[in-house]
Amino acid sequence: MVILTPNLLISVGTRDTYRHPQDPCKCLKIEKTHAHYSERRKRFYDKNLSHNELDLKNYSILKPHLIKYIPCCEDTLVETNLGKAFCSELIVDQDQTPSECILDYLLSNTPIPGQILSQLTEFLELIRQKSLFIFDLNPKNFLIKKTSHSQYQLIFIDFKSLNLNKLLIPMKRAPFFASRKLNRRIKRLKKWINHSENQEKQL
Ligand SMILES: Nc1ncnc2c1ncn2[C@@H]1O[C@H](COP(=O)(O)OP(=O)(O)O)[C@@H](O)[C@H]1O
Ligand SMILES: [Mg+2]
Repeated sequence: MVILTPNLLISVGTRDTYRHPQDPCKCLKIEKTHAHYSERRKRFYDKNLSHNELDLKNYSILKPHLIKYIPCCEDTLVETNLGKAFCSELIVDQDQTPSECILDYLLSNTPIPGQILSQLTEFLELIRQKSLFIFDLNPKNFLIKKTSHSQYQLIFIDFKSLNLNKLLIPMKRAPFFASRKLNRRIKRLKKWINHSENQEKQL
């Protein structure tokens, strides 16, 4: 069993993300108990699957399409002292510090590199074309990996919202509603980015 301690914590959120104590290239995501979610919210997720199980299932769906834009992940959950963890490649910059997310750039008014905006446009086009209904296009879910002085790679790290469904019918049977929702989410992300100051170019 992997033992996680507070000094390994990278980020606190819906799940907490830790560095893997035995492998510096990996991170582990720990689920907070479902009791924290409202009944209404629980209904939107697959009732039988935890967020980590959803990430695992959705990773295998997304991997063939988005290999360039998602981290490598393990195909089973890892036992830890804090429960079962989803294990993924730790996204770090050239200097080995964990990469910042788009939200960090927006909050600090740092221009988002043009290269990242082009990759984001391509990513959004790809998910639309392939009908990959990823609805949580939150700026916290996109990391900006600095691979060298002026080279960047966009990485999408949170797969649990794929096909997240508020409708009574399965998402696959409601492609019109799903596309409409995806388009709204894309528009909202573009608005957040384009409305922030200092951007090198518009999305
Ligand atoms: N593979 C990763 N590499 C580096 N940091 C990560 C990675 N995955 C998650 N993080 C950090 O954890 C935060 C939340 O991760 P996420 O998967 O979106 O979890 P959740 O939304 O369920 O809380 C991210 O914004 C990022 O700061
Ligand atoms: Mg997230």
